[in-house]
Amino acid sequence: MCGIVGYIGYDDSKEILLKGLEKLEYRGYDSAGIATLNDEEAYISKVKGRIAQLREAVDDNVKATLGIGHTRWATHGPPSHENAHPHQSTSGRFTIVHNGVIENYLEVRKEYLGDMELKSQTDTEIIVQLIEVLYNEMKDVAAAFRKAVELLKGSYAIALIDAEDQDTIYIAKNKSPLLVGLGDGFNVVASDSMAMLQVTDQFLELMDKETVLLRRDSVEILKLDGSKAEEREPFTAELNESDIEKGTYPHFMLKEIDEQPLVLRRIIQEYQNEDNEIKLDPDVRQAMKDCDRIYIIAAGTSYHAGLIGKQFIEKFAKIPVEVHVASEFSYNMPLLSEKPLFVYISQSGETADSRAVLVQTKQLGHPALTITNVPGSTLSREADYTLHLHAGPEIAVASTKAYTAQMAVLAILAVDTAKAKGIELDFDPMQELAIVANAMEALADQKEVFEDLARDFLATTRNCFFIGRSIDYYVGVEGALKLKEISYIQAEGFAGGELKHGTIALIEEGTPIIALATQEGVNDSIRGNVQEVIARGANACVISMKGLEKDGDSFVLPKVHELLTPIVSVLPFQLISYYAALHRDCDVDKPRNLAKSVTVE
Ligand code: F6R
Repeated sequence: MCGIVGYIGYDDSKEILLKGLEKLEYRGYDSAGIATLNDEEAYISKVKGRIAQLREAVDDNVKATLGIGHTRWATHGPPSHENAHPHQSTSGRFTIVHNGVIENYLEVRKEYLGDMELKSQTDTEIIVQLIEVLYNEMKDVAAAFRKAVELLKGSYAIALIDAEDQDTIYIAKNKSPLLVGLGDGFNVVASDSMAMLQVTDQFLELMDKETVLLRRDSVEILKLDGSKAEEREPFTAELNESDIEKGTYPHFMLKEIDEQPLVLRRIIQEYQNEDNEIKLDPDVRQAMKDCDRIYIIAAGTSYHAGLIGKQFIEKFAKIPVEVHVASEFSYNMPLLSEKPLFVYISQSGETADSRAVLVQTKQLGHPALTITNVPGSTLSREADYTLHLHAGPEIAVASTKAYTAQMAVLAILAVDTAKAKGIELDFDPMQELAIVANAMEALADQKEVFEDLARDFLATTRNCFFIGRSIDYYVGVEGALKLKEISYIQAEGFAGGELKHGTIALIEEGTPIIALATQEGVNDSIRGNVQEVIARGANACVISMKGLEKDGDSFVLPKVHELLTPIVSVLPFQLISYYAALHRDCDVDKPRNLAKSVTVE
């Protein structure tokens, strides 16, 4: 989703901004631009397209020690040169980049801008014009900036420069992520620490409705009323640049698929003490023990991990669990139990839909646990407790290693809760996860099988169905999401038994069906469903598990504990999706229309 960078120092800002924007590419975008200040004039360069095109468009001769940059993921107005950021006020004095959605932009325009002609269709241009209008009245840039921000409703991360001031970047934040990075003789701003690791690993968190006057040697954080905000200590971003490089891999997605066994082993290490017992924050343990029902809130792939997590928690810890799509929860809030615990699952920790529910449930006074890959993220900061996924940065838009890490952490949490409640289990999660890690490794070494399957089944098809029963059904839904988001094949996951209630009408000669058969109790019935679709002309392939295989299965997965099969059985789906996208010449790591961090509701 949109990303912001800014630099103020003594070096040429252009290269730092462009490099920063390249590091934000993974978030998803359709246009990009930078603005630098030089001799009381803003130099702006922007393109509809990739950062590589922006690089070509930027004039090499322009040098400036202050600048801002932006990647845009269209919300108001289609992707175009006019709608790309930065945007400038009518006089050319103020230049802005913005991430988020201004809900009252039409009202603001009507009340403050009259019949002013605008150059773009964005809500962002309204902000910069408003700042100029207010400045013309108030004659104080910082005050006009704060006043403008106060008038905005919605989400925003903003960086503004003033052509008549070479010493300040004006910053504001509400709901959208934004960090200030600290340096010696320079300071930076970015939506994500990855963008500025090139110059610093020291960052300051900003709270909602704070503004910042960012200068070369100082950072002044103010509340909207102009008073000083609370002092805070910087944190060290625990990443290094090699974590966010592809190395010898052609795509981040393939690298991240291959990293999964390693991530699992890291999780085992992080969640185990020297006595081989589960190591978990005692407050999390207590919160799990105290609740009478768990409400899992998540979106997309993280929602699918929640569906599996429900199985773990209900089967091991005997606590009822509901899993909700974050964007629907506010309208369809269920009747809550007496002692609910809300569990937010989010790779990025920034998903606005989930965050909106967190704000709502915190207001109701309910405890919240966030399970995330980014411990300093908004969902982590604002929840009472956090469990870290330890998956390392996930750069490809399609989530892979974060999904398997989410399931692994949920399994550990479920078993820990069972133990805390005195429930006897004949299940050692660390040992079982170690077996899963070995199985994943074996699969990653047999990629050609999945490449062939993708070529044979999916090279030219326009649709595909994933079927499974019981826990395999949920993995099928994730497989379908993976395939559709990166290969643009229309794919759906169905419960095997549900097909005959309507969807089977779509099966025709050659329709690809991928069936998962890893659960003993439903092995015969899912195979019955496979026969039903074959009888109607489908081109079916079955992925089964050792001990349950039958003649003609396309692939047999190594045996792991039945409840943990999703952590292994999703790998073939990830690889099939990857190769299908490659065969169809799709941009694997940056699929069209998608963003990695979805920071608008
Ligand atoms: C799909 C994918 C998305 C995310 C969803 C939630 O591959 O990555 O469906 O799972 O946008 O994102 P997080 O987990 O960051 O809250």
